[in-house]
Amino acid sequence: MKVAIIGQGYVGLTISAFAGEFFQVIGFDNNQRIVDQLDSGISHIEGVESSVLQKWIRAGRYKATTSGSDIADVDLVVIAVPTPLSKDRKPDLTYIDAACKTIGENVKKPVLVINESTSFPGTLRNYIKPAIEKYSKTPVEHLYAISPERVDPGRGDYNQKNTPRLFAGLTAEASERTRNFYSRFCDELVEVSSPEVAEAAKLFENTFRQVNIALVNEFAQISNALGISVYETLDAANTKPYGFMKFTPSAGVGGHCIPVDPTYLAAVAEEHGAPATFIRRANDVNLEMSKYVVDRVQADNGGSLQGKSVLVVGVAYKPNVADVRETAAELVIEHLRDRGAVVSWHDDVVGSWRSENSVPLSGADIAIVVTKHDSVDESAIVASAPYVFDTTGKIKGVKGL
Ligand SMILES: NC(=O)c1ccc[n+]([C@@H]2O[C@H](COP(=O)([O-])OP(=O)(O)OC[C@H]3O[C@@H](n4cnc5c(N)ncnc54)[C@H](O)[C@@H]3O)[C@@H](O)[C@H]2O)c1
Repeated sequence: MKVAIIGQGYVGLTISAFAGEFFQVIGFDNNQRIVDQLDSGISHIEGVESSVLQKWIRAGRYKATTSGSDIADVDLVVIAVPTPLSKDRKPDLTYIDAACKTIGENVKKPVLVINESTSFPGTLRNYIKPAIEKYSKTPVEHLYAISPERVDPGRGDYNQKNTPRLFAGLTAEASERTRNFYSRFCDELVEVSSPEVAEAAKLFENTFRQVNIALVNEFAQISNALGISVYETLDAANTKPYGFMKFTPSAGVGGHCIPVDPTYLAAVAEEHGAPATFIRRANDVNLEMSKYVVDRVQADNGGSLQGKSVLVVGVAYKPNVADVRETAAELVIEHLRDRGAVVSWHDDVVGSWRSENSVPLSGADIAIVVTKHDSVDESAIVASAPYVFDTTGKIKGVKGL
């Protein structure tokens, strides 16, 4: 079976690497640089080994391409393109639309189209299917299904194989063929009664995390006001064996999912006249954490950051990945610069970002730890500035949340 995977990023390349063992995979991406790199056997995604790609390339089971004609004769298409927020923080389906155009204009025979991109309930039925039909020059009756992706890049314990996968087709045949596809490389498949349930479940999973992170971020502020340790309090609460799940405070939330997916849910809720006040407020609390952190640092440093050299340690949105999408470091740096601080950052996993490069871990007046990669030495962080503020709770003996 020949499978096209549209989008060769975190999700699409991860699926390609697993699917390559069983199918002939065409990795379609509109970024020529990424495609050239992949075709030379170099992975740009943590968790996807270059050696695996090279194995599939040698076996003739993987090819990356920017050319739509290469997907003309496939049997199955997976959509794995970004679903970000627009400038006015509304769901932005332009990448999905472009993927539908590629499929509609190039796939000539009936295939199964599976969407893995995260979006609001109704996207498969009311958006993807009509869009592909609109772009198809000759009418083709494709099958459609959704299987929301749950991959957590950089994670060691859960992967494509052992993470249960939700799915639902628009028809029984679509469901059946979706099950057959994923069952080759996924241990547990969970079929739900409609694509809308699968789409909503994905959004709710990440909304659950977003509101709990906001709650603990608010609690960090309450603990500080009360003069008690938020970490000790959370550890104490966590001794309860049921009805409690520990989340930890931070400078905010980042990545493609937690800051974005709840807004997709809120947008579709409000469109249908349902309230999403809790979700909206949680988002705001998380966004406001960066200001709270900078306020605390400023208060500890004589009430002014004007002219002080501040080193932000860790700009990736989470440890051990180079992903900077929606990173809390961005807002922290913005607040610091607004207050006249001279800001640089250290993150050798990211290397370069926004036309700036990672600087050595030393010589600052103030260091603020936003993300702590395993490769970064704790004592080097402590020695990097006379005042260190740690938002991760991992570094002993310094100021923190
Ligand atoms: N990254 C995660 O951990 C994660 C987890 C679960 C779900 N998701 C969801 O999966 C989807 C993809 O996310 P990602 O993290 O893989 O994004 P990504 O940015 O890592 O990769 C997307 C890829 O799609 C390519 N692309 C964009 N438009 C295209 C088009 N029209 N045709 C072909 N290629 C195109 C880009 O060049 C890029 O390589 C999103 O909806 C995201 O919310 C991501």
